[in-house]
Amino acid sequence: MKNITFALTLILLFAGRLSAQYNTLWIPDTLSGTNFNLNLVDTFAQLRPGNQTITAGVNNKFWGPTLFFNQGDTVHVNVHNYLNDSTTLHWHGMHLPAVMDGGPHQIIPPGTIWQPYWRVTNNAATYWYHPHLHEMTQEQMSKGLGGFIIVRDAAEAALPLPRTYGVDDIPLALTSRRYDASNAFVTTQCSYGDYMLTNGTPDAEVSLPKQFVRLRILNAEMERAYNLGFSDNRTFYVITTDGGLVNTPIPVTRLILAVGERVEILVDFGSDILGSSVDMNAYNSGFALGFPGGEPGTTGEFGSLLNNTTFTILHINVASTTSSPITLLPSALVNNNYWTAGDATVTRNINVTNGNPGGQPFDFDNTPFVLNNINKTVNLNTIEQWTITNNQVFGHTFHIHDVEFKLISRSTGALASYEEGWKDVLYLPRSSSATFVARFDDYSDSIHPFMYHCHFSPHEDGGMMGQFVVVDNTSNISDPVNETAGFSLYPNPANTILNVSFSDPDASAYYITINNQVGKTVYMLPRPELKNGIDISRLSKGIYFLQLTDEKTKITTSKIFVKE
Ligand code: C2O
Ligand code: CU
Repeated sequence: MKNITFALTLILLFAGRLSAQYNTLWIPDTLSGTNFNLNLVDTFAQLRPGNQTITAGVNNKFWGPTLFFNQGDTVHVNVHNYLNDSTTLHWHGMHLPAVMDGGPHQIIPPGTIWQPYWRVTNNAATYWYHPHLHEMTQEQMSKGLGGFIIVRDAAEAALPLPRTYGVDDIPLALTSRRYDASNAFVTTQCSYGDYMLTNGTPDAEVSLPKQFVRLRILNAEMERAYNLGFSDNRTFYVITTDGGLVNTPIPVTRLILAVGERVEILVDFGSDILGSSVDMNAYNSGFALGFPGGEPGTTGEFGSLLNNTTFTILHINVASTTSSPITLLPSALVNNNYWTAGDATVTRNINVTNGNPGGQPFDFDNTPFVLNNINKTVNLNTIEQWTITNNQVFGHTFHIHDVEFKLISRSTGALASYEEGWKDVLYLPRSSSATFVARFDDYSDSIHPFMYHCHFSPHEDGGMMGQFVVVDNTSNISDPVNETAGFSLYPNPANTILNVSFSDPDASAYYITINNQVGKTVYMLPRPELKNGIDISRLSKGIYFLQLTDEKTKITTSKIFVKE
């Protein structure tokens, strides 16, 4: 009987494979303009037969909307945390003030609206947003909180590239999950998922037109790297790295994409037969130990059904050409002016170290992350050279906030061809070092730091993270400010708009928090623009406390107001 059941199970599994049980790739919704509403909610998804899986999502979906930003615009985001837990939302790759960054310091308590805003200065490329709450990043990212950011600019718009979203311009967020017996995600003690999710779709397939198609690929994993390629080994062309277009399309047949890295590629389906299929795969077998996802074994914290194997990321069916297809590969893209080692005036070395005995597995320079410990101070407008050395037995990644950097060398030899462009994450194989050059422009803040960390969320949560402040030494310190500007609130009671007026016309607010009567934070406004007042129409009637931190003195003063 046992044997018959076993044979039957095999037949069923095999039949499942033969009939190719693919699901249509989810293309995330889009939001554009300059005002964005993001609601972080608990939700669920039918990801496999049986129980639905409890997930979280931005605007109700495991993997939320794609935000389109235009370079030069000032974007305002209302992040409304409807989760039961605190969280943060980080704009990965964006160059912005630290107080808007959404790192571990910009905690959004449940029920609170956080309103960051910034001027988009990044190059056209693919970025993303995700939670960054210390020690909770793996759990919250595993649940599905995150989404793409696509920045557009004039240089990119002038190029003959595919850019019809969802048609010939397809975002692909690559990740995997492990499920327990009731189909709940396993979100701790689990570095690698067992089942692929592409934009949250299991066994995803997509129809792509018979022409050049742009794929914007993000490794949104916890730890696994992907050695990407196509089942017919076709050549594809890298056109962007993390932070912008490269100078000319870079032809490759395989490409390693580590956690947090993005790449946009052009793939030519022009000579494929209409109705034929090709798979995009992860060729993850055959790597030496140390490749993230190369560990042996199928179970346990470091095992996985997908480890050390080749698996399908996306099944592609070739469909009819669109009405205005891109049929030629552009020969040139942009002219990047990369910094070199000679431009750097400060040199730093960071070592990946084995965490404290009995403590967490890894850290930097034997210093585990502490929320109120600033590890580095960078001077504004300085070009620095950072060398990250990993003498551990396992590969890692290194990600830095605030800047896009230029990778200039690796101890293992030449850089991969596709590492030429601007980046904010690098893969750091075992027993190797990598050196980059970056310029720390525009935003100084001696209080709110930026992060650098391994982007493996179990490592980041475990303390493999540090932080730096960017300080402006040229700012006028001979004029000490010893007085905090007074301010008043009007009208009070207020109904929709609450105005803040300073006694000193030069004064401004570094931070405003609005707390209700029982001390719960309901609004968080970093560096609020106060000329049009604060929109309090979403508050329910009652008594509130507005806490204003003065920009110059950083002293916080509290005032009461009534919402009617
Ligand atoms: Cu993608 Cu510090 O993060
Ligand atoms: Cu790591």
